[in-house]
Amino acid sequence: MPTSAPVTAIAHPNIALIKYWGKRDPVRNLPAVGSLSVTLAALCARTTVHFDPDLAADQVTLNGREEPATVRRVAACLDLLRRDAGVSCHARVIAENDFPTGAGLASSAAGFAALVTAASAALGLRLAEARRAEIARIGSGSAPRSLYGGFALMRNLPDGGVLCEPALAAEEWPLEVVIAVTDTGPKGVSSREGMEISRKTSPFYAEWVRGHEADLDAALSSLRRRDFFALAEIAEHNCLKMHAVTMTSRPPLLYWAPATLACIRVVRGLRDAGLPVFFTVDAGPQLKAVCAPGGTSEVVAALRTLPGVTRIITSRLGQGARVLASDA
Ligand code: PMV
Repeated sequence: MPTSAPVTAIAHPNIALIKYWGKRDPVRNLPAVGSLSVTLAALCARTTVHFDPDLAADQVTLNGREEPATVRRVAACLDLLRRDAGVSCHARVIAENDFPTGAGLASSAAGFAALVTAASAALGLRLAEARRAEIARIGSGSAPRSLYGGFALMRNLPDGGVLCEPALAAEEWPLEVVIAVTDTGPKGVSSREGMEISRKTSPFYAEWVRGHEADLDAALSSLRRRDFFALAEIAEHNCLKMHAVTMTSRPPLLYWAPATLACIRVVRGLRDAGLPVFFTVDAGPQLKAVCAPGGTSEVVAALRTLPGVTRIITSRLGQGARVLASDA
């Protein structure tokens, strides 16, 4: 294969309103449960891929650093793409995030969605949507959702496969998200490891999986009706159930900081007072407050003064992963 032109793609992180926690097949990275997410315009992962026959191995930097674990995960995705394209040539991959990495802000989801988008374009591959999602999922279980904008749904199919598709476009319900950053250090236990610990040890794991489909259906129904308060109720319930599973794992996984709980109380207080806002928290201490369209200002004002909140980011819903430029 001749040297390919460098191709750059961007993708945004997504945050789950109905969460994926646990794998039914850790090797193929198949989720035990479905999930529903929103893609965030304000945060961005940018990846440039350049296939070069002179390279003896894939060269991967993330935010300027080369980490063996990241190189392995990227190479696993590239191997599948190389197989599909019938080539063996290695690639130079430069990935950058404009937001904290590995801190519960879905950096890996955005990064792998951008990687698959850039690398498949660099190889001239026209992948079917399902294949694109499958390869992104090898890198990060939630990455297929960042291939899409607005609301994305990922669901297990009866034949054992996984479906990932847009559930609603951003313009159809332009919710906004306020992120209260409480700690930007990388998390102690990755989602990948944490899920396996929970699956093997939490006494509530089986119940989490059993009740999950009903949560997903309820959330999808509230989405169809644009019923903000119904979505709020089911999303918070599902989030707290996920954290009940993590907290009751052995060893326990406590992803929250003290300020995370303080933010939760503030958001619940605002909603009790009638404001359309609800919280969600992923495998990290940042709080995400989901707001009705145009409804962020009171939420920002209430969260920014809390001790332990170091930064506030507001975001509209974003687009899916896309190629930016061929730098040839
Ligand atoms: O895709 P991973 O391995 O980073 O796991 C994502 C896990 C959560 O963010 C906690 C939930 C989710 O559905 O995004």
